Amino acid sequence: MALPSNPLLRSLGGYPLAAFQDMAREMRAQRAVLHDFSIGDPVEPTPPFIRRALVDGIPETSQYPTAAGVAELRAAIATWVRRRFGVEVDPDREVLPTAGSKEAVFHLPLALVDPHGPRRSVIWGDPGYQVYERGQLFAGGTSDPVALTHGRGWRLELDALDADRLQAASIVWTNYPHNPTGATADATYYDRALQVAREHEIVLCSDECYVDIHPDGAEPPSLLQSCGDDRSGVLVAFSLSKRSGMTGYRCGALVGDADLIADQRLLRPNIGTASPEPMQHAAIAAWGDDRHAADRRAIFNEKRAVMLEFLQRVGITISGSDATFYVWFAAPGGDDAAYAEALLRHRIIASPGRAFGPAGAGWLRLALVPSVDGCRDAAEVWEKAITDGSLPGHR
Ligand SMILES: Cc1ncc(COP(=O)(O)O)c(C=O)c1O
Repeated sequence: MALPSNPLLRSLGGYPLAAFQDMAREMRAQRAVLHDFSIGDPVEPTPPFIRRALVDGIPETSQYPTAAGVAELRAAIATWVRRRFGVEVDPDREVLPTAGSKEAVFHLPLALVDPHGPRRSVIWGDPGYQVYERGQLFAGGTSDPVALTHGRGWRLELDALDADRLQAASIVWTNYPHNPTGATADATYYDRALQVAREHEIVLCSDECYVDIHPDGAEPPSLLQSCGDDRSGVLVAFSLSKRSGMTGYRCGALVGDADLIADQRLLRPNIGTASPEPMQHAAIAAWGDDRHAADRRAIFNEKRAVMLEFLQRVGITISGSDATFYVWFAAPGGDDAAYAEALLRHRIIASPGRAFGPAGAGWLRLALVPSVDGCRDAAEVWEKAITDGSLPGHR
């Protein structure tokens, strides 16, 4: 029976490296020692005070969460924005709690894209997080990936794009600290991006879900800081997933232009996505505390130090990797897929860069997911494999 189906679903559904993924899945199923740096889902426990807030937040009667979220959560997010970036935002008009940042990124274009209008594209960086493209396509828009390079520090430079390209866009997504390269942007980068986006009347969206995972003394800035008091045309996505070890809780936020937030509020009751209220209570506790985020950061910095020291010692070229969650390195020998496959034979899973877009070819990503000891063990196995001559591209 030929039942109706959206052709987009199948065209996007396939992962570019299906064979690699199958092999990795098989190895995970065998449950032998496995050094899995592929999926960004950390193993450190969620802090007990957050779990407690979740349990304490379970009401006697369960009711639907609202699109606006509970007022205390909006206030907690606004307070964190002030503490972290020194920026005052109105919790009721400029803050929207979301069920993690992924769904917010995906759904956001539904309120912004006119599928029959002239400005349908989303500009985003390749390699990058593919949900920017997917959300836009499902909303009836088009995708305009911009190839990022090592030479330009993996930064999406809007002022290098033709006016035609900018005029065709409804949305630009920037993402620093960057998945997959770990590259960061400075305040002047955001100043320039904001200027170009405003000149061409594009909504500038900044995915800052990794903004709290950074080396000591190197806090990445937010686009919000470049806005001054004028947040028009700007939306920033934040998340508790990595900051607070809450990937399973689904808690994030959009902060920015009050009119754009109002449109998201209008849109979202149609979808029915909001964090369940007990999760929102856990989120209030998490946004309200910086101590646990600093503790987690220290752990990620330790893992980063282990892996950077190892890669440097064995002569592998590192790029980006300024923030803490991801380490990005050049495939010895140049073929990221071949190198990832060879690593897999030693039970080390790294993501080939091309999985994040064609411009990622030749590079690999390590998500600093194993424990500190797990990183040390992996480095040992990896080094032995290099010495044995069983990894390509090493002399
Ligand atoms: C760049 C980027 N944005 C957004 C997300 C979504 O994060 P979450 O939905 O857990 O907040 C991820 C997750 O890995 C990501 O890498």
